[in-house]
Amino acid sequence: MTVTVVVGCQWGDEGKGKIVDLMARRMDWVARYQGGANAGHTVVVGRQKYVLHLVPSGILHPKPKCIIGHGVVVDPAYLLEELDGLSTRDIALEGRLFLSEGAHAILPYHKWLETLDGQDVRVGTTKRGVGPAYQDKMGRTGIRMYELLDPKRLRRRIDEHAERVERAFRGAGIAPPQPIEAARTEWLATYSGLAHRLRGFVADTVALLAEARERGEKILCEGAQGTFLDVDLGTYPFVTSSTTTASGAAFGLGLPPSALTKVVGICKAYATRVGEGPFPTELHGEDGEALRSQGGEFGATTGRPRRVGWLDLVQLRQAVRINGVTSIVLTKLDVLSGRSSLEIATRYRADGELRSYTPTDVEALERCEPVYETVPGWEEPLDRIRRYADLPLTARRYIERIEDGCGAPIRTVSVGSGRNQIITVPSRAQR
Ligand code: IMP
Repeated sequence: MTVTVVVGCQWGDEGKGKIVDLMARRMDWVARYQGGANAGHTVVVGRQKYVLHLVPSGILHPKPKCIIGHGVVVDPAYLLEELDGLSTRDIALEGRLFLSEGAHAILPYHKWLETLDGQDVRVGTTKRGVGPAYQDKMGRTGIRMYELLDPKRLRRRIDEHAERVERAFRGAGIAPPQPIEAARTEWLATYSGLAHRLRGFVADTVALLAEARERGEKILCEGAQGTFLDVDLGTYPFVTSSTTTASGAAFGLGLPPSALTKVVGICKAYATRVGEGPFPTELHGEDGEALRSQGGEFGATTGRPRRVGWLDLVQLRQAVRINGVTSIVLTKLDVLSGRSSLEIATRYRADGELRSYTPTDVEALERCEPVYETVPGWEEPLDRIRRYADLPLTARRYIERIEDGCGAPIRTVSVGSGRNQIITVPSRAQR
C-alpha cells in the first residue's frame, strides 16, 4: 500500500496535471485535497486538450477512481460544467468519481464578497470565490455538500447567507450586483437543481479511502497550486486560502499523516507566478517576455500572463524540506533551449546579510536580492529527446546542479506537454 502526494514546489502551474495523469494509470485512487476551481490542470492526450479545474486528472485513465475531498471548496456550477464536458468526450464518471459530503460549496455570493472586500485586486486572486468560501468554512458558517442536498436545510442556510451578504453590502454603502431578494430566490432554485444533479456523486470519501488503504490499494493525492501559495507556509498574504503543502493531503482527505509514504515535488525548470506578491528572481522587460512566450506562460484558469523568472534554489530547497519531497519531477526543461547561459538563485542577500531561507515576513522577502550562479545553457531543442543520455551535457549539469542545491533527486524530466515527452532520470550512481 502506498499513498503518494504530488505537490507543487513553487507558486503553482508547475505542470502537476500532466504528472498526475502519468502516474494515475498505476493508481487505484486519485484524490484532490484542497483548493477549488482556482486551479487549472491542462492535460494533452493525443490531439485532445483537457483543462480540468476540480476533477482529478486521473479521470482520464480507465482504472483509477477519483475523489474530490472535503478539503476542496466546490462550486457546483463549475463542477457540473466540467462533468458535462468529460461525459461528452466519453469519459466514464458513474461509480468512478466521488465528491466528499463534507466539501464546502461555493455560491455566487462568495464571488461578490471577494470583490467587495477587494481580495481580487489586493492579492490578484482568480475571482472564483475561493477565499470567501474558506473564510466561511473557518468561520463555521459554510454550506457543506450534505446540506446542499437537503432542500429544507439549503433554504435555511441560503436565507442566513442572503441576510449576511445584504448587511455587508449595506455596511459598505455599495449596491449588490443583484437585489438580494431576487438573488436569494435564484440561488435556491439554481443550487437545489445543481445539488440534485450532483447527488449520485456525493459520498463519505474518508471511509472510501480508509477502506481502500485496508485493501492495500494505491492512492495518489493531488495538490493544487504550490508550496509558496500555502496559507501558512507561503508568501502570506499573497497566497491562496488552503494548505497546498503535502500535509494538506492529511487534512483535506482525512488520511493519517503516517500514511503518506512518498512525496513527489513538481518543479518547473524556471519560475512563474500569477497574481501579486514577491518574486525574487522575476525577469522583467524583453528577457521576461521571451521566456513567457517560449513557455506559453498564460494562466489555464484566467488566461492572465504569468510572471516569469529564473529557478530559485532557496525556494526549492525549502519546498523539499517542508513537504518532505522524496523525488522531483523537473518540468518544461525544453523551454530553456537556445540560451548560452542560465542563472540559478542560490541564496538571497537582504539587509547586508546572506540568507539560505525565504523569510516569513513578506516585506523582508521583498527586500531580498537573489545571488545568482551562472551556468552554461544549451542551444538544442529537447522536445524529441527521450533518454537521459541524449540530453546535452549542459542540460544534465543543470539537472545535477538543482539536485545538489535542493537535496532531493530528480527522477523525471518533462520536455513537452505530450504524455510521451518524458525522460526517466537514472539514479546518480547509474548515470
Ligand atoms: P485565489 O486562490 O483565487 O484566492 O488566489 C490567491 C492567489 O493564488 C493569487 O495570487 C492567484 O493568482 C493564486 N492562484 C490560485 N490558484 C492558482 C493556480 O492554480 N496556479 C497559480 N496561481 C494560483
